[in-house]
Amino acid sequence: MAITLSVIKADVGGLVGHTNMHPDLLGEAHQFLSAAKERGEIIDFDLLAVGDDIDLLITHDRGENNAEIHKLAWDCFVACAEVADTLGLYGVGQDLREKTFAGNVTGLGPGSAEIEMEDRPSEVVLVFCADKTSAGCWNLPLFKMFGDPFNTPGLVIDPKMNYGYSYEVFDLVQDRVADLTLPGELYDLLALIGSVEKYGIRRIRRNIDNAVAVCTSASKVYQVAGKAIGKDDPVMIVRAQSGFPSVGELTEPFAHPHMVAGWMRGSHWGPLMPVKFEDAGMNRFDGPPKVICAGYQITKGKFIGPVDMFDDPAFDGARREAIEIADYLRKMGPFEPHRLSQSDMEYTSQPKVLEKLKDRFRPATSPVEVKS
Ligand code: F6R
Ligand code: MG
Ligand code: MG
Repeated sequence: MAITLSVIKADVGGLVGHTNMHPDLLGEAHQFLSAAKERGEIIDFDLLAVGDDIDLLITHDRGENNAEIHKLAWDCFVACAEVADTLGLYGVGQDLREKTFAGNVTGLGPGSAEIEMEDRPSEVVLVFCADKTSAGCWNLPLFKMFGDPFNTPGLVIDPKMNYGYSYEVFDLVQDRVADLTLPGELYDLLALIGSVEKYGIRRIRRNIDNAVAVCTSASKVYQVAGKAIGKDDPVMIVRAQSGFPSVGELTEPFAHPHMVAGWMRGSHWGPLMPVKFEDAGMNRFDGPPKVICAGYQITKGKFIGPVDMFDDPAFDGARREAIEIADYLRKMGPFEPHRLSQSDMEYTSQPKVLEKLKDRFRPATSPVEVKS
């Protein structure tokens, strides 16, 4: 029987601003999904949290984009938002943009990543969840995992892997996708996904049989009046072993913190810091951007695990490096390249400043006004 893993996430209210998760929200989600499991609507579930985001991990047999599963997740978030409201948490219902559910959570605020998996004797899955950053944060690690033999020796020495993988590149601005196949189209892929605010990766498939290896929550950047609202705080599901990269080939890209867009007010570059579950609070300058990784065996739809994959001193070096990068960048204050470029900032006062100063600008060639 094919099992679908759906990871659906939302921020429905933060504990002290946008920084952490209140345990009562997780308690509510647990109760809500336990009842659904008892009714037989889902096979199993687990919950993760990073920063102010709740991640619902659900297994079921209804396939991807199933309206009932999406409605269940939506109703669960609404119930959690009610708890957040009672507690007076911050930003209640932040990611529930629409008042009512309309068939699929995509576009309504929450993010989702889903893979329907054919039966494997042993299904190994990693779920990565990040906060204070955007979909493009996965571009570099996904390139390393599935495209770079210096990261993933399996690409060279595992016969099931060396046909390569195809990347479904998502144009986050124009809401369209294109498939690029590696290794042949390596340079074209990098030409696109190096622009992390314009392109994300939605899926990766194994060339030999088209099996889906990765699904991320990349979706169109939500804009109001031409301004990007909310970095998506993305998630991704990655399958491991037996013809997919090994668990270690999937965690290895996070041994160096790469720079991602987001952090304070969704308007700064910062290092993506791999942390253990209990360190996933956004306590310094609303960050720095952080990523957790939960490892599972999924057995007949049941979650066996998780293993907290970054709870390992082997990632201490990455954490130290991230702190050094954060210290360095913070000294730049409101200047680029710590601050994002104007068009990618989530918050900006620049149009207002320009409006206020519009009469103060004069042609650069005009003589200097001398005031007597
Ligand atoms: C970034 C984020 C925070 C907020 C900041 C200001 O994704 O969540 O850095 O942008 O705390 O929040 P408001 O505008 O709600 O006061
Ligand atoms: Mg928030
Ligand atoms: Mg968040």
